[in-house]
This record gives sequence, C-alpha cells and structure tokens, in this order.
Amino acid sequence: MNIPTFSRHRRLRRSPALREIFTEAEFSLNDLVLPIFVDEGATDFVPIKSMPGVFRIPESKLESEIERYARAGIRSVMTFGISHHKDHVGTDTWQHAGLVARMASRIKKVAPDMVVMSDTCFCEYTTHGHCGVVHDGEVENDATLVNLGKQAVIAAQAGADVIAPSTAMDGQVAAIRVALDANGLMDTPVFSYSTKFASALYGPFREAAESELKGDRKAYQMNPMNRREAVRESLADEAQGADALMVKPAGAYLDVIRDIREATRLPLGGYQVSGEYAMIKFAAAADAIDESRVVRESIGAIKRAGADLIFTYFALDLAEQGI
Ligand code: PBG
Ligand code: ZN
Repeated sequence: MNIPTFSRHRRLRRSPALREIFTEAEFSLNDLVLPIFVDEGATDFVPIKSMPGVFRIPESKLESEIERYARAGIRSVMTFGISHHKDHVGTDTWQHAGLVARMASRIKKVAPDMVVMSDTCFCEYTTHGHCGVVHDGEVENDATLVNLGKQAVIAAQAGADVIAPSTAMDGQVAAIRVALDANGLMDTPVFSYSTKFASALYGPFREAAESELKGDRKAYQMNPMNRREAVRESLADEAQGADALMVKPAGAYLDVIRDIREATRLPLGGYQVSGEYAMIKFAAAADAIDESRVVRESIGAIKRAGADLIFTYFALDLAEQGI
C-alpha cells in the first residue's frame, strides 16, 4: 500500500474545468457597484487625467449614459455630484431641485431597476471641500449631523434606493435613520461608509470631484494603522441601525474586511478607490501588468476577504466584457 506522505494539491488544478469548479471566491455583476461622477456644469464628457477611462458625465447626458450601463448589465451605481453651486455648508445637497436629488430622480426615471446609492456627504458641495460644517477651522460633528438628515431625506424622496453616508461623522447613521423615519422613509436603507480611513489613495478622486480641499481629513477619517478601532467603527454604525457596512479603501485593508466580516452578520462592502484604480491603470499602461487579470485578482481578493459588494470603477469594463 502506498501511504501518502504529503498531499497532492495539484490534483485539483490539473484542468481549467477542475480549477473552475473548485474556485472558492467568485464575483458577478450582482456584486459590483459603479461609482459615477455627474457634472451639472459640463456640456460634454470630461476625462479625468488621473483615472484613465473614467469621465465626468455631463448632467444632460446622464440618462443615456445610465441606459448604456443598464444594457451592459450594471445593477447599481453610487452617485457623486460635481457641483457648481458650492457654499460654506453644502446647502445644495438638501434642495429639492439640487444636484443630489436630480441625480437620483433622473436615473430612476430611465432605469427604475438600477439600484441608486446616493453618496451622502458635503465635500463636493462646500467651498472649503470638507465633509461637513466648518467652524473655527474644525469640522463640527453635530452640526453636520443635522444637515446629513436633511440631505438623506431629499435624496430618498427623489428616488435614491440607498443612502450611503461618507462624512465619517460620529452618529451619522443614527442621525440619518431618525430623519428618514420622521419623514415616512422607514423603508430606505442606510449603507454606511462605516470604516473609512484617511487614505492617500483618494488622490485621483479629488481631481475627479473637483475638490476644493486644502489640508486633510485626519481629524474625522480613521488612522490607517488602526485595526481594532476599524472594527469598533463599523460595529458602532451597526448599533445605530445601519443596514450594510463598508470598508474604504479595500485593497490595502483586507485584514480589516475580514475582521468586520467575522464581527457582524450585516452585508459588507469594500470600496476599491480611485488610487487603487489608478495604480492598476497606469501600471497596465506601462505594460508592467496584465490589466484584466489584475482587475479580477484584486476584486476577487476583496470578495475572498469577506466583502459581499465591491464598489469599483472597473465595474463597467467588467460588465462590457461579460465579466
Ligand atoms: C468623500 C469621498 C471620498 C471618496 C468617496 N467619498 C474622498 C475623501 O474622503 O476624500 C473617495 C473615493 C475614491 O477615492 O475613489 N466623502
Ligand atoms: Zn466627503
């Protein structure tokens, strides 16, 4: 009798079919959310230099663009507005005719089945570029919560399916939940950017969103080195009534995704952010890596770490390639 002294892992790798049926982590279009930038002032598509292949969508072309995404198989988008009506607090975000509301209503009108997640923040709508109300050089937590509630109600009334607060204010979920419920919107879910790091990987997004920010967000977003606190942040949002949680960025924080996956039963998202996108795009453009394979590997790894949904600028490419 031949007693094995080691296991032969290669047995299950011998053919493509064997490898495929034994794959553990897989993703489909049901798992991907496409973040989009909608510019209320642009007359044509504006390329984002630091994000090759990504464009700001002129608001006038939003409907046709969404129809194209829907035909390609995109199930969900996260909306970011490029505002030309900025002020000190981001008043436009809670106007019935403001950009946040218009993005949701225009999309839902042409694509009722598209899941619209409304990024709920102020930084694209404030003259200082911070994610909330600034007083004496500081972002005021509780004053920002009041405005978050107003924006969430406006977005939900305009048709947004999901409210996704990204301000990194303490209490953001509770404030939004209370405001939604008080306005009869108890069925609108809150998908919180619950663990959000003050990451250098947001660089290209600032160009994409025409951010006015000088300085940084380290007084409200998390220290990238803090793993225990990362779990506390997400559990705090769960306790406030969040319907789903998120880790952002994703690729450099797979340990955090795994920790949170094991600490909660809520759905979990991972946001492959603009800098992660840019690193892959520019490395591929230099012929250093195979773009399609690295895209699949990086998104698959976020899934494997424990994310159910992945926010990625590659979603449209993947949809167009039939995944
Ligand atoms: C702002 C916001 C940011 C992103 C999403 N919402 C940037 C920031 O916090 O400065 C980053 C997305 C990306 O880099 O792709 N609330
Ligand atoms: Zn913000």
